[in-house]
Amino acid sequence: MSETIAFKPESLAQVHKIMARYPEGRQKSALIPVLHIAQKEFDGWLSVPVMDYVAELLSITPIEVYEVATFYTMFNMKPVGKYVLEVCRTGPCMLNGSDNILSHIRTKLNIKDGGTSEDGLFTLKPAECLGACGYAPMMQLGKFFHENLTIEKVDEILELCRQGAIALD
Ligand code: FES
Repeated sequence: MSETIAFKPESLAQVHKIMARYPEGRQKSALIPVLHIAQKEFDGWLSVPVMDYVAELLSITPIEVYEVATFYTMFNMKPVGKYVLEVCRTGPCMLNGSDNILSHIRTKLNIKDGGTSEDGLFTLKPAECLGACGYAPMMQLGKFFHENLTIEKVDEILELCRQGAIALD
């Protein structure tokens, strides 16, 4: 474990509370919620030392953490911007214009898929169905869905982000 990596006391208390939900020897069941806490606390992504720290806390092997963290797209494996724009590109969203939304964001922020804008504010992450197909096209930003997107609506959202006026959780 890296000596410099440790949860803040309040996060650690939260981790222990989650772990206590499971019987002795089943700490791995707490892995996903603990990874969410780790991602939030350590700059929005999970570095190898952070994953190793989580493995040690849960008394599981690092590979058990890596395989879960790399499987789920909600976990970031490299540094990201303050605002991660997860734009759905699956069928219903695509039929309702997600391609236009994505290319607008790429052009406006001068980023590629998976990339981060030069000012470090935005990361664009095309996503698969996020379960809000009835409100397509949509994107997730933090814990919130932004639905029935139009180019104008996207511009408003980006502006609110720049002003720090948008909720993430
Ligand atoms: Fe976009 Fe389901 S296809 S939310």
